[in-house]
Amino acid sequence: MKINRNYENIQDSYLFTNIAQKVRAYSEQNPRADIIRLGIGDVTLPLPEAAVTAMAEAARELGVQETFRGYGPEQGYGFLKDAVREYYAGRGVALEADEIFISDGAKSDLGNILDLFDADNTVLVPDPVYPVYVDTNVMAGRRIVYANATAENGFLPAPNRAQQADIIYICSPNNPTGAVYPKEGLAAWVNYAKEQGAIILYDAAYEAFIAEPGLPRSIYEIEGARECAIEFCSFSKFAGFTGTRCGYTVVPFALEREGAKLNKMWLRRQTTKFNGVPYIVQRGAAAALSAEGRKQCLEHIGYYRENARVISQTLDELGVWYTGGKNSPYVWLRCPNGMDSWAFFDLLLHEANVVGTPGAGFGKNGEGFFRLTAFGSKERTAEAMERVKKLLSR
Ligand code: MLT
Repeated sequence: MKINRNYENIQDSYLFTNIAQKVRAYSEQNPRADIIRLGIGDVTLPLPEAAVTAMAEAARELGVQETFRGYGPEQGYGFLKDAVREYYAGRGVALEADEIFISDGAKSDLGNILDLFDADNTVLVPDPVYPVYVDTNVMAGRRIVYANATAENGFLPAPNRAQQADIIYICSPNNPTGAVYPKEGLAAWVNYAKEQGAIILYDAAYEAFIAEPGLPRSIYEIEGARECAIEFCSFSKFAGFTGTRCGYTVVPFALEREGAKLNKMWLRRQTTKFNGVPYIVQRGAAAALSAEGRKQCLEHIGYYRENARVISQTLDELGVWYTGGKNSPYVWLRCPNGMDSWAFFDLLLHEANVVGTPGAGFGKNGEGFFRLTAFGSKERTAEAMERVKKLLSR
């Protein structure tokens, strides 16, 4: 028996698990501390009413003999795939229903998709980066190379033609930096991927936060992307489904490598290893994409945007450099006084009882930076910023 020794090459615990443990330990030692959590990007507003109503109706359907359903299609019900198709059509991207696969979230599929690729591939990830991209590839023993995202390039690295790569990760709006690629920036990556014969794994989980017109919300807005990109998206941030679990993955029919059609491979993988997202949840997701549902989701996004504005304004007042927050729920700031990011984490936790995410947890270029999320409540975000102001103007 041989275990997968690659697990010895990843950190003992996942970044957000590690932070949760630290906060729990602090809270146990300081039971009276009133801790405000702006660390993990978890939503706080309740589900939109349209989704709740649809899920309640769906639950009742399942309790009646005539409308009961057992296993559903592994790749998702037609009604939800059609709703996603329409959502994309609304911004000029035409998809076929069978190019869309309903999942239990972007994080799962970003890991699962690696089943389609040999271990002997070079993976290119930006640094800093959502740790799932790196950890899932280290677990499989793949070689990882990095594209440096820095304050100098606006945390939007451009491809380096001298760097060979087979699998490329792009997240825009970016987690953790909040930076968003303009069309030309993404087009450069699409051209590079085509030259390399590489595949882009495009994480669009935060697309609904794009406020500025003209910024791409899907990689398929870029010509040629269907031949080189798989897109992952989620209802977590759009409709508050972090606990409800639903997302989708788009694998275009045009995507082929070494004579194999990736759409067909992914269908085979999903029908073998996945039994689909619960019917009730898919009904809720479809309702979130209805005209009324979208209106409600956008109201929630507007609420979080206002939090991002409050965070940004506080940093402006304190003269702290930051990026993000405008087209993203994340504000990425430079730690004051040259502090390293875990030291700043401790300072904020101990002196202000505010939790954020240390940039170093996202990669070496994240050192010296810190991420705050706008997903808290309005009152708690304002209170957190008052505490930060007090602490940093001492
Ligand atoms: C984060 O805080 O980065 C997010 O919660 C990540 C996720 O959606 O898994």
